[in-house]
Parts: sequence; C-alpha cells; structure tokens
Amino acid sequence: MREKTTIYLVIILLTLTFFGGFIYFKNKNLKSESSYQPKKTQSSFNNQQEKIREITVVAKQWAFEPSVIKVKQNEKVQLRIKSVDVVHGFALPDFNINIDLNPNQEKTIEFVADKKGKFNFFCSFFCGQGHQEMRGMLVVE
Ligand code: CUA
Repeated sequence: MREKTTIYLVIILLTLTFFGGFIYFKNKNLKSESSYQPKKTQSSFNNQQEKIREITVVAKQWAFEPSVIKVKQNEKVQLRIKSVDVVHGFALPDFNINIDLNPNQEKTIEFVADKKGKFNFFCSFFCGQGHQEMRGMLVVE
C-alpha cells in the first residue's frame, strides 16, 4: 500500500515537472517574440550628462509627421516613431537605420547626427497605394 502511494507521488511529481517545464518554455518563447527590438533601439547614449534631442514622429498612410526633421551637427538624436494605422517602415540609409513600425507601437531610434547635409528617409514596408509617397528629409545643419 505504501509503495503504491510512493509510485503515485512520483508519477504526479514527474507530470508536474514536465508540464511546468513545458509552460515555462512556451512563455519564454512568447516573451522573446514580444520583446523583439531592432538593434538600433539599444541605447548607445551612456553619458546622461549630454543632451539628447528627442523628436516624436508619427507614421500614417501616407506620410511622416513631421516630414522634415532638423537637427544640429553632432547632436544625439532620439526619434520616437509610432505608426497610427497599418504597418509601415522607417529607413534612413545614410545612418544605417531601417526598422518596421507595427501599428500603435512606439519604436525608439538613436543616432548621432555626425555629418552635415540633407538625408532622405522613407517608408520601407509596403503599406498601400501611397507607399512610394511616404518620405521625408533629415536636415543636419
Ligand atoms: Cu508606409 Cu509604406
């Protein structure tokens, strides 16, 4: 009788361990998916003393607002971009930036505007008939 109870206990423990592990890994997978962030959003600005230029950008069919972003040379720029409708992209090739923008999910991009000039940015994810029109300019003065 005692042996039988022990066997039952072992079976119950094994079952709990198995399902516990299963649920843990399932959650782990979900977590790693939802916490996905492009490399560009890892903060490269360690020095809190230095000023960061924060700019909020809205992406929507079929424009960026603002479409012209002006910054000073060598300014540390933090763009907070959010799509308010469908999936868009934000590409600024001269600064090696290209990310997807899921609806209503703010993404942060940081870079140093280390060169003067006018640099085009544009939507890099096909978002409908006006996709090609969805562009803007970064002006570094
Ligand atoms: Cu927005 Cu393509």
